[in-house]
Amino acid sequence: MSPLTLAYGNILAPALGPHGFAPERLAGDLSERFRDAHAAVTGAREAGELGFFDLPGDVETRRTVQEVADSFGQWFETLVVVGIGGSSLGARALADALLGLHWNLGSDEDREHYPRLFFLENADPESLRDLMDRVDPRRTLFNIVSKSGSTAETMAQFMVIEGLLSEVLDDEAVAGHLIFTTDPETGVLRRLANERGIPALAVPRAVGGRFSVLSSVGLLPAAVTGVDLAALLEGAAAMVRRCEEPELVRNPAGLFATLLHAAHTEQDRSIHVLMPYADRLRVLALWFQQLWAESLGKAVDREGRRVETGPTPMAALGAVDQHSLLQLLMEGPRDKVVVFLRNRAPEHRVEIPRLHSEIGALSYLGGHELGELLEVERRATAEALRREGRPSLTLELDRLDARGLGEFFMLMQIATVYAGALYGVNPLDQPGVELGKELTYGLLGREGYPVPELQDEDLGGYRI
Ligand code: PA5
Repeated sequence: MSPLTLAYGNILAPALGPHGFAPERLAGDLSERFRDAHAAVTGAREAGELGFFDLPGDVETRRTVQEVADSFGQWFETLVVVGIGGSSLGARALADALLGLHWNLGSDEDREHYPRLFFLENADPESLRDLMDRVDPRRTLFNIVSKSGSTAETMAQFMVIEGLLSEVLDDEAVAGHLIFTTDPETGVLRRLANERGIPALAVPRAVGGRFSVLSSVGLLPAAVTGVDLAALLEGAAAMVRRCEEPELVRNPAGLFATLLHAAHTEQDRSIHVLMPYADRLRVLALWFQQLWAESLGKAVDREGRRVETGPTPMAALGAVDQHSLLQLLMEGPRDKVVVFLRNRAPEHRVEIPRLHSEIGALSYLGGHELGELLEVERRATAEALRREGRPSLTLELDRLDARGLGEFFMLMQIATVYAGALYGVNPLDQPGVELGKELTYGLLGREGYPVPELQDEDLGGYRI
């Protein structure tokens, strides 16, 4: 039995009445639709376009990453990962889920002498300064992650860090505090690595940024902090096998993609909310948000027709967002599907003491556990949505461990390429981000990019 299950009763008619899909459709038109998507994805995989499918079996990379991690781990008390988008979110999600939110507050003994782990994503001077003022550069390894080696935010931060390192270390020592994760052959980082002898891990050509969490991008920070890479990749491999099934009702990624696509295109439910009920999984929801948005939001379809399509993913957190978004989910436009994510067995059990027996508003809580409260709230929210005819799906992890997480990452990635086939778009590109990049290059004077004329926001004096 897999540690990861998908419950989809709350999107079907028996539970949801007229707002749900007829279950017969799962063996009918939805199944047919999925069969085509399955065939398209299988074809793309066989053509070598979907490299993320092969990552769980890439024993060589796992071994290299582990060796690099073992050789570095003992020298450094801190690892700083510098990257953005797909070059950061997966590794962050992994770290939060498996190390917990307060890893960096633990003593060396608490961390079993694995390093502290920080991420620099945004080119925000406050974040960079705050962190650099607190770490000892002489005891810190900087992992610069950029597949292209040209992302302005990452490269700018790399240069600032290199400058700061140079203030306290000689050239050779600076190189010893850097490791790159980048394209196997091309790009600035690869060139610098070759010229200066900086160790560099490869992101395979056929693995796009947002599909790279199980490549060296996600594996290195995980290995350096003691995560069981073999279990992570075994979980992913098991999910690949499950999702090879062409029959819709036996394929969890197929069901996830087909039901959400149908909810969007047939019922105008274009907003897909991923709502984990676990603080440690909040970044996982952000990772999904990027994957679903950047892969499926496209102007043109595979035939070149202008479609301007794509669902809007939204990351939420239960039960926190019951006090923020739930009102909208319950009574606002019927344009959403909520995907609950639950960890069945939280590591810690915290019992609520039986205090204040004379106060009814408190005494009912005594004797229950915090995890129980959270789960009861999730079930109550799903039921409240159901009674309002508002659909949901539930993903449940048996345990929050490396294997289960490997399954989750792979499930979502496969669901995304199925969804790409269902929407008829290419889930692997992101042409929409190019124009903003080119304007930025032009504004900063990069060679080959003309200085653009911007229509300022207060053009014509529209500002108060
Ligand atoms: O999914 C993607 O391709 C993007 O989100 C990239 O990961 C992001 O833009 C960072 O790119 P790079 O790794 O080239 O710096």
